Amino acid sequence: MPDVRAAVLPDLTGQVALVTGAARGQGRSHCLALAEAGADVAALDVCRDLEVPRYPLGTRAELDEVVAEVERRGRRAVPLVADVRDPDEVAAALAAVEAELGRLDVLVNNAAVVTSAPFWELSEQQWSAVVDTNLSGVWRTTRAAVGLLRRAPRGRIVNIASTGGVRALPEFAHYVAAKHGVVGLTRAMAIELASGGVTVNAILPGAVDSPMLAGLADELGLTPQDVHKRWLHDQLLVEVIPPEEVTGALLWLLSDAARHVTGHCLAVDGGALAR
Ligand SMILES: NC(=O)c1ccc[n+]([C@@H]2O[C@H](COP(=O)([O-])OP(=O)(O)OC[C@H]3O[C@@H](n4cnc5c(N)ncnc54)[C@H](O)[C@@H]3O)[C@@H](O)[C@H]2O)c1
Repeated sequence: MPDVRAAVLPDLTGQVALVTGAARGQGRSHCLALAEAGADVAALDVCRDLEVPRYPLGTRAELDEVVAEVERRGRRAVPLVADVRDPDEVAAALAAVEAELGRLDVLVNNAAVVTSAPFWELSEQQWSAVVDTNLSGVWRTTRAAVGLLRRAPRGRIVNIASTGGVRALPEFAHYVAAKHGVVGLTRAMAIELASGGVTVNAILPGAVDSPMLAGLADELGLTPQDVHKRWLHDQLLVEVIPPEEVTGALLWLLSDAARHVTGHCLAVDGGALAR
């Protein structure tokens, strides 16, 4: 009889994890927890502001701080400055993972951006930025990583989608379309990778306390409290979710207890999807 308590906490000693969007927010929390679970961590972020969104993105200083925190936990860490919209930068990042860490066991596709407007007011630029980062970036990064993941004894891919991946929210049509795409991609990749022993799952966060929510508030000319009210009125548990609780779901998906879980979407959403 397997030890269930041991099985729900992953032991990632000797493994390597790559997290995109790693400089801050949920990505940062994932990197630190992966290191605590024993993994060496490749932390990837664009580390510069873009035309879309208007709010500031992660910085090189924040990425370096994540690297220092991983190293403080006794693990190796590699900072990777790359844009998940750029195939060459993504390919170079994966080449650096192989060269510096030698393998890849876990890929967490977390990088994303958000803007908000009725769909008829979205610019070409807003549409492209959100779809190319949030959906195509997941495909592009996984395509570049799949060779290494297949070589791992038990490769794991976790895509960070959103409750917007399975239902619509007004004034986020591009984000909703991209996140629905991530859910479909998760299922398609799970089917194609099952014979290689790689599991592919998605997490659907609700309203998470991160710079993305604060940035969105700024973009809409609202206070973070107003944005919280707007997003939270749907949740049964009306609280902003700490990033560490999304990390908790990630760790479970990486654990032995979840060995046979693939193609699944796990909501950490305060019950929003129950409505
Ligand atoms: N915050 C929420 O309420 C919420 C809710 C549901 C889902 N999510 C999802 O959770 C994930 C993490 O979001 P967060 O809340 O930590 O946001 P965040 O804005 O704090 O972090 C996102 C990180 O991604 C990086 N990034 C953006 N574009 C990139 C690109 N082209 N290439 C590489 N890196 C890039 C940013 O620099 C930033 O460090 C995202 O997939 C997001 O869609 C967030």
